[in-house]
Amino acid sequence: MARGADTENVEGSQGVADAEDARAAEDGDGMDAFVGPLDPEMCVVTAAANGERAGCLVGFSSQCSIHPVRFAVWLSKANRTFRVARDADVLAVHLLTREQRGLAELFGGQTGDRVDKFAHVRWRPGYSGAPVLEDARAWFAGRILHRVDGGDHVGFVLDPVEWGGPRERRGAARSEAGAAPLLHLGDAVTIRPGHPAD
Ligand SMILES: Cc1cc2nc3c(=O)[nH]c(=O)nc-3n(C[C@H](O)[C@H](O)[C@H](O)COP(=O)(O)O)c2cc1C
Repeated sequence: MARGADTENVEGSQGVADAEDARAAEDGDGMDAFVGPLDPEMCVVTAAANGERAGCLVGFSSQCSIHPVRFAVWLSKANRTFRVARDADVLAVHLLTREQRGLAELFGGQTGDRVDKFAHVRWRPGYSGAPVLEDARAWFAGRILHRVDGGDHVGFVLDPVEWGGPRERRGAARSEAGAAPLLHLGDAVTIRPGHPAD
């Protein structure tokens, strides 16, 4: 059913049912069949601004342009990471391997409002100060080109300016590290978000 198709002529008990359908459509319940099977790679997005650092686990992300290369990440307005990213020039985006679920739990299950996540990981300041997680499977730092209001999340369109992988995986170990499976949504879906979006 198309969203909004049943929002008019709400009367009596049929009206109540229609109103419930309308609310379900508003919440996108009918979209479950589409979004349910999706299993995107997870990433950790970090930001620094005004002397503060933040980072959270993100499932909403994708490349959004080929020439030039652009990548978009979506941050929940409820998250501390969003509040820091609002004032940042650059975000860093990190891929994790399936073995790095502990990092996903730290960045997705805890909020920086209560925990200093960076006290528990190896990191360094990257381009424009954006924190780079040294053990990530791969990462890039991107200048924020656009911020797009998507509802309860805001999209950040990034222009990659710096990238890399962990130092200890350079050279001979690189092909082995490159073969490690990435962490997907299905691996992280049982993590209870540190800051629920709703
Ligand atoms: C499986 C999973 C996917 C998530 N996807 C996103 C996402 O796409 N965008 C986002 O902003 N938060 C997402 N989160 C929620 C944040 O990672 C989580 O609320 C985090 O604790 C926020 O930390 P912060 O308050 O320090 O920013 C996800 C969490 C989980 C467990």
